[in-house]
Amino acid sequence: MPSILITGVSSGIGRASARRFQEAGWLVIGTARAPEKESGLPLGIELETLDLAERGSATALGAKVLAGYGCPDVLLNNAGMLTFGALEAISPADLQHLYQVNVFGQLELIQALLPAMRVRGSGVIANVTSLGGTMVFPFFAPYNSTKWAMEALSEGLWHELKAFGIRVKAIEPGFVETAIWDKALPEKDSELSGPPAYRPYLLRMLDYETSIKKRSSPEKTAEEVYAAVTDDSDRLRYPVAAYAGLLIKVRRWLGAQRMMRFLHGRWLD
Ligand SMILES: NC(=O)c1ccc[n+]([C@@H]2O[C@H](COP(=O)([O-])OP(=O)(O)OC[C@H]3O[C@@H](n4cnc5c(N)ncnc54)[C@H](OP(=O)(O)O)[C@@H]3O)[C@@H](O)[C@H]2O)c1
Repeated sequence: MPSILITGVSSGIGRASARRFQEAGWLVIGTARAPEKESGLPLGIELETLDLAERGSATALGAKVLAGYGCPDVLLNNAGMLTFGALEAISPADLQHLYQVNVFGQLELIQALLPAMRVRGSGVIANVTSLGGTMVFPFFAPYNSTKWAMEALSEGLWHELKAFGIRVKAIEPGFVETAIWDKALPEKDSELSGPPAYRPYLLRMLDYETSIKKRSSPEKTAEEVYAAVTDDSDRLRYPVAAYAGLLIKVRRWLGAQRMMRFLHGRWLD
């Protein structure tokens, strides 16, 4: 039975992916920050604790998984967090936290499993990056920068691990209907942080974000994740879910500078 370790199965893309792989007959080991609070996951999904914000948590999880289940065939680095706000206002502590969760913890988990995958001579490391790992959206730049970092690390790993039979995937979702948006976006303009000079621009960007109705479901996205992870190819990048493929193509066609002017005009001018 093939096996997969999926981080962040408490909701969204991670939860739907856990279901998708389990239905296909995989052994699914999922992580949550508080596994004892999880309900609604199908029986048979093994739950382990992981808090990426805690340094060493991913290393400990990796060791536990290797000892308890053996080396998984696939690592799906899915867990992550989003932030919204002006770059001028983000504190060093918040930026550090964001990078710990979205980059350092992810690499820690990869490093925990890599030796066993390398010795075995097979494996897939799939990192859920973002459409925002290929371009930058105003007021999402700290988040986007973590996803650009994961894109770069994924591309580096692709080169470094090919000789050892390990395939690397960067999965780039566009817009998916999950809790991540509500967790990060302020509900009222009174909740906007940062200097008041940014307010009109933050509000315009918020209006734009909330006006996007055509988001993919986590289930449809999980289907695309499943296809990417199991396609047996050495392809690295997979735009998935609403608008990802389209916007990446348009940016390639227009060039980065013209695309930035176009989007800036729509969002902020
Ligand atoms: N939704 C989108 O439109 C979209 C677009 C592009 C990329 N993505 C990426 O897709 C991935 C999944 O996001 P989602 O949309 O499914 O969001 P979600 O529903 O909020 O799920 C995020 C998962 O990550 C977990 N997580 C958050 N902080 C964590 C931490 N410190 N340690 C361990 N786990 C943590 C969450 O656990 P808790 O329940 O404990 O918070 C949850 O299980 C993320 O990497 C996100 O950046 C999403």
